[in-house]
Amino acid sequence: MIELKKLKYELKDLVPYISWETIDYHYNRHLATYITNYNKLVTWTEYENKPIEKVLLEVEKWPIFNNWAQIINHDFYFEALSANAEIMPNLVLLEQINTKWGTLDKFKEEFNKMALSNFWSGWTWLVIDNKTNELSIVNTQNAGTTLIDSNYTSLLVCDIWEHAYYIDYRNNRAKYLDNFWKVLDWKIVEKRIKR
Ligand code: FE2
Repeated sequence: MIELKKLKYELKDLVPYISWETIDYHYNRHLATYITNYNKLVTWTEYENKPIEKVLLEVEKWPIFNNWAQIINHDFYFEALSANAEIMPNLVLLEQINTKWGTLDKFKEEFNKMALSNFWSGWTWLVIDNKTNELSIVNTQNAGTTLIDSNYTSLLVCDIWEHAYYIDYRNNRAKYLDNFWKVLDWKIVEKRIKR
């Protein structure tokens, strides 16, 4: 059985960029429901007593996969948000971003464009391509995740399911994306780079 991980911030701490109500619904209801469903589905299976980090599921294990992948994706998303976010990457990462996209703003523009073009409920990721060691922006659909893709090292993710922004921004995904960068903590992102 797994439980909701505790957030490092209060529900209201990301205001005015993400409201307490959005975090409440998103974390305490949507994510909690994935966890409840997952726990039900894994009862009497080999996964029942494993911590979520030790479980590795394939898409074929649907519907357990969907709930499991949504849990690890959400943990990755919520973990990198902060009330005191460091809004600039460190020099090493900034240099990599500049090499690929020119400037940090241009990178954000490309990331947002990619997120806006994701037709589905899904996720937009910044990853390192492990073969070329280059940064790349990737979309996944539904519960799709780069976290288990050995081609990539995942650095950050933006949840672009409507439940992540509809209370605050209605259908204005672009505005949600603009404000996402104000609560994304690059300190956490940097820790995800394997050294
Ligand atoms: Fe979500």
